[in-house]
Amino acid sequence: MAERVRGVVAREKGAPVTLETVLVPDPGPGEAKVKVQACGVCHTDLHYREGGINDAFPFLLGHEAAGIVESVGDGVTEVAPGDYVILNWRAVCGECRACRRGRPWYCFSTHNAVQPMTLEDGTPLSPALGIGAFADKTLVAAGQCTKVDPKAPPQVAGLLGCGVMAGLGAAINTGGVGRGDTVAVIGCGGVGDAAIAGARLAGARTIIAVDVDDRKLAWAKDFGATHTVNSTSSDPVEAIRGLTDGFGADVVIDAVGRPETYRTAFFARDLAGTVVLVGVPNPTMTIELPLIEVFGRGGSLKSSWYGDCLPSRDFPTMIELYLQGRLPLERFVSETIGLDGVEAAFEKMHHGDVLRSVVVL
Ligand SMILES: NC(=O)c1ccc[n+]([C@@H]2O[C@H](COP(=O)([O-])OP(=O)(O)OC[C@H]3O[C@@H](n4cnc5c(N)ncnc54)[C@H](O)[C@@H]3O)[C@@H](O)[C@H]2O)c1
Ligand SMILES: [Zn+2]
Ligand SMILES: [Zn+2]
Repeated sequence: MAERVRGVVAREKGAPVTLETVLVPDPGPGEAKVKVQACGVCHTDLHYREGGINDAFPFLLGHEAAGIVESVGDGVTEVAPGDYVILNWRAVCGECRACRRGRPWYCFSTHNAVQPMTLEDGTPLSPALGIGAFADKTLVAAGQCTKVDPKAPPQVAGLLGCGVMAGLGAAINTGGVGRGDTVAVIGCGGVGDAAIAGARLAGARTIIAVDVDDRKLAWAKDFGATHTVNSTSSDPVEAIRGLTDGFGADVVIDAVGRPETYRTAFFARDLAGTVVLVGVPNPTMTIELPLIEVFGRGGSLKSSWYGDCLPSRDFPTMIELYLQGRLPLERFVSETIGLDGVEAAFEKMHHGDVLRSVVVL
């Protein structure tokens, strides 16, 4: 029997989200029903609401969550009722061409729940990133549940489910930041600050934070930025070169995802350096670059989907680092809100007032 819960729904492009009754089916084979305890508000939720991801409205938003497995369907062995889990959007299939070649962090066929959650009139909902966790309960594929140490509270653990893991992984996994590297991070929201924290964990020598907002730059310092650049008052390419002996940074991470920030990243990296695009552009954006520079600068231009993370490998590790006091996940939580506070949280995100608003249930 489907259960009635509350959920935050984006019904149409650009319209404010609404709190609706959502029907969550009992888990079928391979599925798990999870009682959501906390879910962070990620910029990607806003991209969904604005129609920037796709047009599969209505969306059930929310995807950075932690909670307790309530029930599981037939054949589920990886988790059991009562397990404390972070939800992930990379339940690897083990069978696609990426998985078969031993690169499951690229998995092209990740698992989600098969049964749809619906509105009361039966309209199927598209859960954001296959999760939909701005809801009392949600239905996911069992592989989307990663068990972690329950000593980490849900409002911080859940953040690893998307933006914070994407940023950490953009630096550590995709960018391959290593000891002694110089790193610049453009855009210091939740994702960018996590990239800064990741660069620090990996032993970067210089970490330059770039943003248009001085408040964000002050927070970036708390995560390990050694220098800050406000790109509204100085040219970020010149500033980054100036802080790296005139050469540019070994790794530049674009955590905004706009043509102008990508251009900055491209020109602010050293020869043979790496650009990592982790911010998500909208489908209309284009960029023009001199091809001779693409060739002549060498190195690599990479994109980072979810920080190239493997949840089963990376979530428990990051939680352990947090519990040891080496990864300040709690600093990402600017405020905790209820399910009715998501629309206001988008507004605060838009004005740069928060790093993460986290819905606590
Ligand atoms: N690749 C992935 O897997 C993945 C995962 C999660 C989020 N994301 C994306 O990462 C991006 C950042 O997400 P977030 O939650 O940190 O967003 P956010 O809104 O909290 O942060 C964005 C930051 O960029 C700054 N900014 C905006 N324009 C800028 C500019 N021109 N130059 C410098 N800084 C600028 C803002 O001031 C803000 O501090 C979004 O596009 C989001 O969709 C990607
Ligand atoms: Zn796969
Ligand atoms: Zn996200």
